[in-house]
Amino acid sequence: MRLEDLDIEMEEKNLEGYWAVDRSPSPEPIPTVKPHVWKWSAISESLERAGELVGLDRSERRTVRLINPGLKQEVRSATRTVHASIQLVKPGEIARAHRHNMTAIRFVLRGHGAYTAVEGEQFFMEEGDLILTPNWSWHDHHNGGDQPIVWLDGHDGPLVSAFEVMFVEPFPKQQQPIERPQDFSSRRFGLARPSWGVEGLKNPPLRYKWTETYPALQALSASAGDPYDGVLLRYVNPLTGGWTLPTMSCEIQMLRPGEKTRAHRHTSATIYHAFRGSGVSEIDGEKYEWEQGDCFVVPTWSRHSHSNASDKEEAILFSLNDRPVMEALNLYREESQK
Ligand SMILES: [Fe+2]
Ligand SMILES: [Fe+2]
Repeated sequence: MRLEDLDIEMEEKNLEGYWAVDRSPSPEPIPTVKPHVWKWSAISESLERAGELVGLDRSERRTVRLINPGLKQEVRSATRTVHASIQLVKPGEIARAHRHNMTAIRFVLRGHGAYTAVEGEQFFMEEGDLILTPNWSWHDHHNGGDQPIVWLDGHDGPLVSAFEVMFVEPFPKQQQPIERPQDFSSRRFGLARPSWGVEGLKNPPLRYKWTETYPALQALSASAGDPYDGVLLRYVNPLTGGWTLPTMSCEIQMLRPGEKTRAHRHTSATIYHAFRGSGVSEIDGEKYEWEQGDCFVVPTWSRHSHSNASDKEEAILFSLNDRPVMEALNLYREESQK
């Protein structure tokens, strides 16, 4: 029997020989995810149009997602593990309640007067706040204010989809009842917390207020900072001291006036949002300029450094990455520039 005939015979039996596949393994990852900048002008224009054309009766959420140009034909998301989109809720609107086993975060960009309800608790949304919607928690959004609210949504949907384990459930009513008092979670899961009744819960819903995050950044601005990231703060889970969420780490960093970081690379992929200021990130030798409102992606194992374009103003980047997954699966590697 000829080997070619064996291969054909095996194909019919849904089998394949190791020899039949062209193997020229790359010694290092070659990401299909491309570095890319999504300009705020393009995002906000699309979102504004969607505000006129798409009602929340037609689409449960009015979000504009970031599609990585390297993934268009495969995964419709910013990276292979983390999805990011920008959401608009107009005054008087309610984005109806549901839950899913995707873990989600919201980082508020514009507006106020709205809240996200998570597990029966209202989390009011002010610019720069980070709000967590852990896996399988009921959530709906309500804008009771007089101005539109816009935020960055992130979730681990691509990862959940890759495992083919997605569960989604609509709440029987448009909104869930508010059953918990104001600041229920921050009082229960803050630095001083009750000695009873919090066992077993690892990922509570939480709001990290900008009025606390920004002073922390400012207070640390005179310190040496991280050579690769400037003054970078990780939003930690107060119950474990670990990553923000099991699948995503959320971070906020200040690049001080004139600051340029050293380059490094790691196996976690990162989605950035330029919250304040402007700058340039060099990714695998290419320069990517960003300014307030822009989003950009640094793919896995891509050498990168960031610089603030201004020598007078600070620049602030919010980011989310899949490092907790890389660490959990023993796939995390990091390398500084030689
Ligand atoms: Fe959702
Ligand atoms: Fe990095």
